[in-house]
Amino acid sequence: MTQKLALITGGSSGIGAAIAAQADREGYQVALMDTNAEGVRAVAARMKEGVALVCDITDETAVEAALSTLGRTPDLLVNNAGIVRFEYMLDMSVETFRHILDVDLTGAFVMSRAVGRRLRDEKRGGAMVNISSIGGITPSLGTNAYAAAKGGMIKLAELMALEWGPLGIRVNTVSPGFIDGGMSAAVYADPRTREIRSNAVPLKRLGLEQDIAEAVMFLASDRAGYVNGHNLVVDGGLIHSVLSQVPRA
Ligand SMILES: NC(=O)c1ccc[n+]([C@@H]2O[C@H](COP(=O)([O-])OP(=O)(O)OC[C@H]3O[C@@H](n4cnc5c(N)ncnc54)[C@H](O)[C@@H]3O)[C@@H](O)[C@H]2O)c1
Repeated sequence: MTQKLALITGGSSGIGAAIAAQADREGYQVALMDTNAEGVRAVAARMKEGVALVCDITDETAVEAALSTLGRTPDLLVNNAGIVRFEYMLDMSVETFRHILDVDLTGAFVMSRAVGRRLRDEKRGGAMVNISSIGGITPSLGTNAYAAAKGGMIKLAELMALEWGPLGIRVNTVSPGFIDGGMSAAVYADPRTREIRSNAVPLKRLGLEQDIAEAVMFLASDRAGYVNGHNLVVDGGLIHSVLSQVPRA
């Protein structure tokens, strides 16, 4: 059997790098796409046969060119690249709002369409996993376009699952909760925040990047062969605990 190829966007750090490492351990050839040239090359160098693609996922032309250099179509696409800017919307510029939407939502569309078209033309199936966030289900204050984009990613995966299911392309989402790393590393550098947030989670700990990597690789695998259009929340039970955090009268 030919070795499968996994393409992970935003793979130069945090959750993306953990997914890449897990895919590598599970026998995939791993390609990483990121705007951070130094970071993406360093992570790719840790893989058995890693490929680094320095590319902005919002740039349609650059994405097509980068995919062409791979020489074959990825069997697995993980739409993981993302940005967050904490700002209240009354003070926010349209430019910033658009930029966040562009990276967090349109970028996933650009990538999925490019890989999806190739799989369709080759008449073979594949798997895609979007990395959303519990913030796309239960928005938290100050997350503006990030929350809107992450909610949109869940819907995008549902719709792609519907449209591309007949082609044998399964599309699912993973929604991480409080993750100790990546874009939240600075937040959890504060011990008090770690304690408060860990205690808010029914499992009484923050999530690990590896918790997300395991969920992604499950959805990518044949073990999830009948799972399509699903949003797998990986948050230690946090979003279902909201009512229990409000004291009874
Ligand atoms: N860390 C968390 O607490 C958390 C929680 C929920 C969801 N997430 C989601 O997980 C995903 C990974 O985040 P992370 O925490 O590892 O953060 P991170 O900042 O470490 O990783 C994001 C990566 O995306 C890359 N990137 C940004 N814009 C890009 C672009 N236009 N083109 C290509 N690459 C680009 C960055 O260079 C970076 O390597 C994100 O989608 C994020 O929203 C993270």
